[in-house]
Amino acid sequence: MRASDSAGRYTTEKNMQTDSYELHAPEENGRRKPDIDIRDMGVDDIPAVFHLGEKVFTADKTPTLYRTWDEFEVVSMFNADTDYCFVAELEGQIIGFALGNIVEKKRSAWKYGYIVWLVVSPAFQRMGVASRLFNKLTDKMVEDGVRLFLVDTEADNHPAIEFFGSKGFGNTQQHMYMTYNPANVEQQKEKKRGSRGKKNGNDHRRNG
Ligand SMILES: CC(C)(COP(=O)(O)OP(=O)(O)OC[C@H]1O[C@@H](n2cnc3c(N)ncnc32)[C@H](O)[C@@H]1OP(=O)(O)O)[C@@H](O)C(=O)NCCC(=O)NCCS
Repeated sequence: MRASDSAGRYTTEKNMQTDSYELHAPEENGRRKPDIDIRDMGVDDIPAVFHLGEKVFTADKTPTLYRTWDEFEVVSMFNADTDYCFVAELEGQIIGFALGNIVEKKRSAWKYGYIVWLVVSPAFQRMGVASRLFNKLTDKMVEDGVRLFLVDTEADNHPAIEFFGSKGFGNTQQHMYMTYNPANVEQQKEKKRGSRGKKNGNDHRRNG
């Protein structure tokens, strides 16, 4: 099964015997084309997955406010649902991953597939790697009874929005995250009290 690309970019070909895909660069001087394997994540992949995520989700560019990328996140996702953790590997290097879980709600017969983290190394983006990780993860979830998929991303994450849009995701719902810092609020109250006291003092002098 080979997908051709009229723009001459990378194309994919499924190897039916090994269930792996090969990533084909456009034919260039007869050079060997890189092979990318989409496979189950193993315990030994945890450090590489963590480091790739760390590269993509820098501290000032956290994908969501309520989830942060750290080693505990990878370990807990892996422990909770190993079946829904996949990696993309090229010549022994992890270049992408997809981590998800299944959400079941009380009083609902439906199972929801939540795609929590989907990441491709910047050097390998726009080559169909995320699409292949996505297909692997969603195929497994459908096999396990999922009928609806959920994703969330920041409103200004255009690549992710375009990506999920291209897969048929829609019905976008806006959600607002707010933060609350008790120390700042207390400071503001103090300021207000101070300026009110000053004002009252002045008024008192004026009245007297
Ligand atoms: C979103 C992300 C996973 C996409 O990975 P990818 O491997 O580049 O995606 P694919 O090559 O499979 O793209 C499939 C389609 O998605 C759309 N798409 C993906 N990236 C896009 C971009 N930057 N701009 C516009 N469309 C884009 C296109 O329609 C693309 O098809 P095309 O290349 O034939 O036009 C990648 O950009 C990424 O890792 N981003 C940082 C992490 C992140 O924000 N993840 C999502 C939230 S967890």
